[in-house]
Amino acid sequence: MGGFPLTPDQASTVAGRVDALFYTLVGLSLLFAFPIAFLIVYFAVKYRRGSQASRAGQTGTSVKLEVAWMVIPAFLALGIFGWAAGVYFDMAHPPAGAIDIYVVGKQWMWKFQHPEGQREINELHVPVGHPVKLLMASEDVIHSFYVPAFRVKQDVLPGRYTTIWFQATAAGEYHLFCAEYCGTDHAVMGGKVIVMEQADYERWLSGGVAGAAPQSPESLAASGQQLFTSLGCSGCHRMDGSGPGPSLAGVFGKPVPLEGGGTTTADEQYVRDSILMPQKQVVAGYQPIMPSFQGRVSEDQLAQLIAYIKSLGNQPGTQGGPTAEPTP
Ligand code: CUA
Repeated sequence: MGGFPLTPDQASTVAGRVDALFYTLVGLSLLFAFPIAFLIVYFAVKYRRGSQASRAGQTGTSVKLEVAWMVIPAFLALGIFGWAAGVYFDMAHPPAGAIDIYVVGKQWMWKFQHPEGQREINELHVPVGHPVKLLMASEDVIHSFYVPAFRVKQDVLPGRYTTIWFQATAAGEYHLFCAEYCGTDHAVMGGKVIVMEQADYERWLSGGVAGAAPQSPESLAASGQQLFTSLGCSGCHRMDGSGPGPSLAGVFGKPVPLEGGGTTTADEQYVRDSILMPQKQVVAGYQPIMPSFQGRVSEDQLAQLIAYIKSLGNQPGTQGGPTAEPTP
C-alpha cells in the first residue's frame, strides 16, 4: 500500500501465521455476510407491499440441506479452532535456548534487564533470528506489552510473572506500546524494539557502538549473587545444605517436594513467591521460619535473584560449597 500501510510490518516468525488466520476469519465473515445482506435487500424488494410475487408457503423439507448447513459450519468452526489453537500453543511456548530478558512495567515506562547486565528504558535491543523470551512483571497497575510488528501482546501484572516470546526476522526498529489503559501517561508509555544483526548486537552488548547501553560491570546473576549475600539469604541457604534453609544449588527447573504433601516446579514464579511469601509453599522437611522480603526487594532485584538461582540450577558442579560461582 506504499505510503499508507494498513497493517504493520511482519517482523517475527509468528507474524505471517497470525495474519493468515486473521485474513481467513475476515474472508469467512465476508463470505457469509455478503449473501445474507444481499438476500435481505432482495427479499425486501421482491415481497414489498403490493408486489405480485407469490406468497404460497414452502411445503416439504430437504433433510440433506438441513444436515449440510449444520455440518459444514461445524467443521469450519472446529477447523479454525484447531488452527488457531496451534498458533496460540506455539506463541505460548518459548523454544529452548531463548534469551531471557526481564521486563518491568511501571507508570509510565518499560524497564529491561539483559542477562549480561545491560539495562534499558523504553528501548529493547535484540538480535535478529534468535528467540527472545520476556519475563514480565508490573510495579504498580496492569500494563500490556505490545509490539504490533511481531504480532505479540501480553498483559503485565503486579504480583506475578507473565511471559511472551518472539523471534525477529528482520533487522530494524519497531514500535512498542502499552496496550492497557494505566493512567495519565498511558499514551506515551512506549518505545521501540531495536532488532540488530548478531554481530552488531554483540558489539552493542560489549558497549562498542554509539548509543550502546551504559556499561554494566557484572551480569544479572552476579548482581543477584551479591544481593543473595547482602540480604542474608546465603546465611540460611548454604550451598552444602547445612543451613536452616534448603540449598538452592541445582534446584531451578526441578520438582520441589512441599511440606504437607504435593510437589511444585521451581520456576520463576515459585522463586518469586518463595522470596515474597515464604510461608506459601514450604519445602518438605523445613520449618516455616523464613521472613518475607516483601517491600525489601524491588522488581529489578527479584529478577537478579532469580537469574542467580537459575545460574545455580544450570550448573551441575555447584554442589561443591558456598563459594560456587554462578554461570557468567
Ligand atoms: Cu502502561 Cu498503559
